[in-house]
Amino acid sequence: MSREKPIGIFDSGFGGLTVARAVMDLLPSEDVVYFGDTARYPYGPRELHEVREFAIEITDYLVNEHDVKLLVVACNTAAAAALDELSEKVSVPIIGVIAPGTQAAIDVSETGRIGVIGTVGTINSGAYLRAFSELSNAQVEPLTLACPGFVEFVERGESSGEQLLILAERLLAPIVSASVDTLLLGCTHYPYLARAIGQVVGSEVVLVSSADETAFAVARKLNDSGLLVEEEKEGKRVFISSGDVSWFAEVGQRLFGPELASAQAHEWSPST
Ligand code: DGL
Repeated sequence: MSREKPIGIFDSGFGGLTVARAVMDLLPSEDVVYFGDTARYPYGPRELHEVREFAIEITDYLVNEHDVKLLVVACNTAAAAALDELSEKVSVPIIGVIAPGTQAAIDVSETGRIGVIGTVGTINSGAYLRAFSELSNAQVEPLTLACPGFVEFVERGESSGEQLLILAERLLAPIVSASVDTLLLGCTHYPYLARAIGQVVGSEVVLVSSADETAFAVARKLNDSGLLVEEEKEGKRVFISSGDVSWFAEVGQRLFGPELASAQAHEWSPST
């Protein structure tokens, strides 16, 4: 396996860009291929078996067509639905966002009162409850809460405004009354809404995103597998969207920065 191959990262849309940012900042010499499945977002309200099929299809595409050396499932819903199956199916290392985010929240919380917000699919899967019971020896009981509607704001390119604040106040009321000291953003889209979420839960609650911890996990895995690029260079970045590519580049650039000036199209065959 060559070190020169790219890292593949995927999500239903723009959310995984939060993880891509952290990976690119930590590992600037690595080439990265990012795939946003915007033609089929949002994943959150779908049945997990359908999300699993999408995740397998994207994984096959990134492994076979882009020859990635490691894959980051930068979508909690897809990781909850398919991480184990993907790890068994392909030969390249696979990293999800649920364990790294859980570990980061455990490390940050002083009281053990931790809230976790995510999509309906992620929360109903119980993946976070399992991750907390596996990773925390202090028996942290997280309060998990689905936040339907948040992802759509990000995908519309709206990360502030009164409508968002109204929705955030309504959805996050159980978190506010639970007096958590840490809130884990268990959906990779949510860091883009951090200002509104922080405004509602209060500045004393620490917001934790899985992005940085996931990037560290990627670096460790590449290092341990002898796959880390050694020379110092500027890594190539390729962005691919299954939806409208000009919209993907326009909103993506606003959220992510100037590197996302253009995106390539990938069309799923009509049977998918
Ligand atoms: N960003 C994805 C996640 O972390 C999901 C968004 C969606 O509902 O498509 O769960």
